[in-house]
Amino acid sequence: MTKEMIVTPWEVKGNIDYDKLIAEFGVSKIDDQVMTRLRKHTGELHHFLRRNIFFAHRDLNFVLDEYEKGNKFFLYTGRGPSGGTHMGHLVPWLFTKWLQDKFGVELWFQFTDDEKFLFKKDLSLEETNRLAYENMLDVIAVGFDPKKTHFLVDSEHAGIMYKEAIKVAKHITFSTVKSAFGLTNEHNIGAIFYTAMQAVPAFLPSVIAKKEIPCLIPYAIDQDPHFRVSRDVLPKLGHYKPAAIQCRFLPGLGGMQEDGKMSSSEGAAIYTTDDAKTVKNKINKYAFSGGRSTLEEQRKLGGNPDIDVSYQWLTFFEEDDAKLKKIYDDYKSGKLLSGELKAILIEKLNTFLAEHQKRREKAKDKIKDFVYKIC
Ligand code: TRP
Repeated sequence: MTKEMIVTPWEVKGNIDYDKLIAEFGVSKIDDQVMTRLRKHTGELHHFLRRNIFFAHRDLNFVLDEYEKGNKFFLYTGRGPSGGTHMGHLVPWLFTKWLQDKFGVELWFQFTDDEKFLFKKDLSLEETNRLAYENMLDVIAVGFDPKKTHFLVDSEHAGIMYKEAIKVAKHITFSTVKSAFGLTNEHNIGAIFYTAMQAVPAFLPSVIAKKEIPCLIPYAIDQDPHFRVSRDVLPKLGHYKPAAIQCRFLPGLGGMQEDGKMSSSEGAAIYTTDDAKTVKNKINKYAFSGGRSTLEEQRKLGGNPDIDVSYQWLTFFEEDDAKLKKIYDDYKSGKLLSGELKAILIEKLNTFLAEHQKRREKAKDKIKDFVYKIC
């Protein structure tokens, strides 16, 4: 049974059909021409691009045109602090760090404690604000340049953000919000207003610099409705339309369906603070396997990497193409067993997380270098 696909900023469910999303959302596929153009500036392409994990964009050519004329863009992304950080959250951040390094550009990072307070019944503003500071440790641990990275916390930077948000809000009707986000008469009025806040970092740096700077927003495709609305409104305020680059979702550990389609949000998540034993237990217990039911069958017929969550996760976290291909081939031929494939993923994640957790610990003293100071 395939399950109905739901992709909104507040709910992602069912079997994700990315081609359908491209058509429905009106984004462009990242094709060879765009990849070649990016490679001119970055040298080797990030494995997220090589593997189509970042798969779509809007106006990337515009941003590169300007860049080539000497008009640098800035990056903007964000996090809605509703809980701990898991591996899926890291995907756009790791890519954003790569873009920052390769292009030497500024990053504005928004923590939407207001959003999660407004949309989550059980979360207080104090709690979402606390979670914003927890999540900051993971963002810093990704390795962003403190001299070029600025954190905005919606409830705390309201003094500079609100003035801009109401200018955006004046151009958005309730009926636009209803159709773009599926919000209804029953939603609280803060939730209806919220998208105006998410638009602000796409042009606030231009307001501060008193000149127009192009903006590029990396995000998981579920956030697209916000930026569709922003792109309509910002030119009316004299700003550029923000450009964007969108990624797929990391599949949930238990989120593989029998028909080979992936669901993004099912099964346990791996949190950045999980210890090595927890990671091992979660993968062994929950990661959906594309293996056969008996050892004999597996050896004879081979497994199916295309529906195996451990293999799918390795496409996100094993950077080495040759290693990945060998794993794919060996699994398919029956040489590599499901337990062995899981062990490879466990080792990969635990090596990554050991480093991440060290940097996360050190990040505690660095928060003040990242939070934008209003002057
Ligand atoms: N709304 C996003 C979330 O729920 C957080 C966010 C704010 C964001 N601004 C962004 C995400 C820009 C990507 C890009 O997580």
